[in-house]
Amino acid sequence: MEKSTNYLTLLKRAIASRAVIAEKNTAYRLVNGTPDGFPGLTLDRYGGHYQLQFFGPELLAFRAEIVAAIEDTLSPEFMVTKFRLNPSGETLETPLMVVEIGSEDNAATVVQEGDCLFHVNLLDTVNPGLFLDMRDGREEVQKRSCDRDILNLFSYTCSFGVHARAGGATLAVNVDISAKILDKGRENYALNGSEVLPGEFFRGNAREYLEWCAKKEKKFGGIVLDPPSFARHKGTTFRIRDDLQGLVSLAASLLEPNGFLLVSSNFSGFSPKSIAEASLATVRSYSSNARLAWAHGQGSDFPGSGTMKESCLSCAMILV
Ligand SMILES: C[S@@+](CC[C@H](N)C(=O)[O-])C[C@H]1O[C@@H](n2cnc3c(N)ncnc32)[C@H](O)[C@@H]1O
Repeated sequence: MEKSTNYLTLLKRAIASRAVIAEKNTAYRLVNGTPDGFPGLTLDRYGGHYQLQFFGPELLAFRAEIVAAIEDTLSPEFMVTKFRLNPSGETLETPLMVVEIGSEDNAATVVQEGDCLFHVNLLDTVNPGLFLDMRDGREEVQKRSCDRDILNLFSYTCSFGVHARAGGATLAVNVDISAKILDKGRENYALNGSEVLPGEFFRGNAREYLEWCAKKEKKFGGIVLDPPSFARHKGTTFRIRDDLQGLVSLAASLLEPNGFLLVSSNFSGFSPKSIAEASLATVRSYSSNARLAWAHGQGSDFPGSGTMKESCLSCAMILV
């Protein structure tokens, strides 16, 4: 009984500490592991839908009490639990998903982030369609996009592109290897009333797109570079530790004067400082006056960012 009271108190405290974020957003992290008093566990809010994830075994035995505390405090319309480890404690690539509240056909919803809207589906894959820890980066891109052509590499569901267009970008080119993911991007454009402009969706390899732009002497006022840590494509392997700066270099060569480059990765071997220093040095080989606007990890809804494997992000904004 005592434990249950504690979870309720801890949850209420976590909710209260996100009150400012909740004023403009319906999607954010509500509980981020140990710093919120829940070791090995995260809770994400997507509107009235919630995603509980166990990254470690610490609180598995208290699952029922924690779910009850969430139900009491937040009255979810839908809630899924994702087990990111197997019974022997090994990390699962494809997590086991259990619907705790609501029905499977109610897993999709729409969330608000600033003045943009996004489709999410909590049962689609492990990622519902919007990476919550890039919210601050998207806000920054929106602020800097007015009257510029923006390139959004490794676009996923095009959330950066949507924000760029909301900020007045003349064009936001979204590049992703997956046609299915780009279709979700098109749905997000439609949801936000953004007409798709010619050339805004490119299905293919980000590196090849950059090389094509270099050949055509195409320039951009802003580029977002947020690759996965590891990917395979047509027999080639992308490893962020080895290959990131090659992409930064190609991207830097396409930047217009006064342009920006946002470089980001959730690879735990990087830190905001290391990604910023390496990327700035690379960009300076094209623009000697390039400077760092900021470098940071995840937002304030991710306390302890960078201290836990399941909660790390290195993000740097470079201006030329
Ligand atoms: C980490 S997600 C990017 C997240 C995205 N920037 C966001 O903030 O929503 C990685 C994306 O890269 C795409 N991808 C993987 N390899 C790629 C490649 N060689 N070229 C283009 N896209 C690729 C995947 O399909 C996936 O959508």
